[in-house]
Amino acid sequence: MKKVAIITGAVGGIGYATVEKFNKEGYSIVAMDIVDKERAAEKFANMADVTYVSGNLANGADRLNLVNTAINTYGRIDVLVNVAGVAPRVRADILEMTEESYDFVMGINTKGTLFLTQLVANEMIKQEKVNGIKGYIVNVSSCSAYTSSTSRGEYCISKAGATMITKLFADRLSSEGITVNEICPGIIATGMTEKVKEKYDNLIAGGLVPLGRWGLPEDCANAIYVLSSGALGYTTGQSIIVDGGMHIQRL
Ligand SMILES: NC(=O)c1ccc[n+]([C@@H]2O[C@H](COP(=O)([O-])OP(=O)(O)OC[C@H]3O[C@@H](n4cnc5c(N)ncnc54)[C@H](O)[C@@H]3O)[C@@H](O)[C@H]2O)c1
Repeated sequence: MKKVAIITGAVGGIGYATVEKFNKEGYSIVAMDIVDKERAAEKFANMADVTYVSGNLANGADRLNLVNTAINTYGRIDVLVNVAGVAPRVRADILEMTEESYDFVMGINTKGTLFLTQLVANEMIKQEKVNGIKGYIVNVSSCSAYTSSTSRGEYCISKAGATMITKLFADRLSSEGITVNEICPGIIATGMTEKVKEKYDNLIAGGLVPLGRWGLPEDCANAIYVLSSGALGYTTGQSIIVDGGMHIQRL
């Protein structure tokens, strides 16, 4: 029987690379993004067994529709990958950050991720185990969970929250045969970083990243896949940092 994966943020850089990876590995995929169905259709046209659900992760009815679609279509959920996320619309100093921007970023990155994880966890708990496991959950947090950027404080706070979501669910679900882990990407070449490409090009040229290049969406997708493949079945509540060595403290 094919395994079933829900992947959010599926139209974006990291999400799409993750859909491609799981598709290549033979999964049935329920791909979700806020992008409408017509626009998304082109992206997934050449992939077998991808069901696309358009929805807003910040909206409870849309989260429920996503999970119901997965259960009604495939009968179970083996993997949840929480990729969808946003940066603030405007980078503003922490002294100027608005409540509106805080609510926007937290509503998607933290609240949306939390309550989708809760919904899926409750479905996974009801499932039969396959090879001793009911399911795998992988969150996409960020190096911003532990690195200050004062011009996008709400994003850093939202990702620190995502890291705690990983730990809380890993703890609660460990007795249920469900592992919960996360990746913390560094600087990855996607739509999210396009607007600040020049800034990061310069920082990378100046030696910020020991491996000397931008991260690619595929670097993230490969790490996500490892965490949900069973290869690391005795690992839960952990972060894999995918940042080309950027977090190494150097003299
Ligand atoms: N690019 C980076 O350098 C980087 C670094 C660390 C973490 N991340 C995280 O990786 C994840 C993926 O980001 P990306 O870099 O691929 O950016 P991206 O902008 O290419 O993809 C994000 C996707 O999420 C979707 N999305 C936004 N709001 C949504 C909502 N309310 N409901 C459903 N979908 C929504 C977007 O439409 C988009 O397709 C995000 O959580 C981001 O915070 C990215």
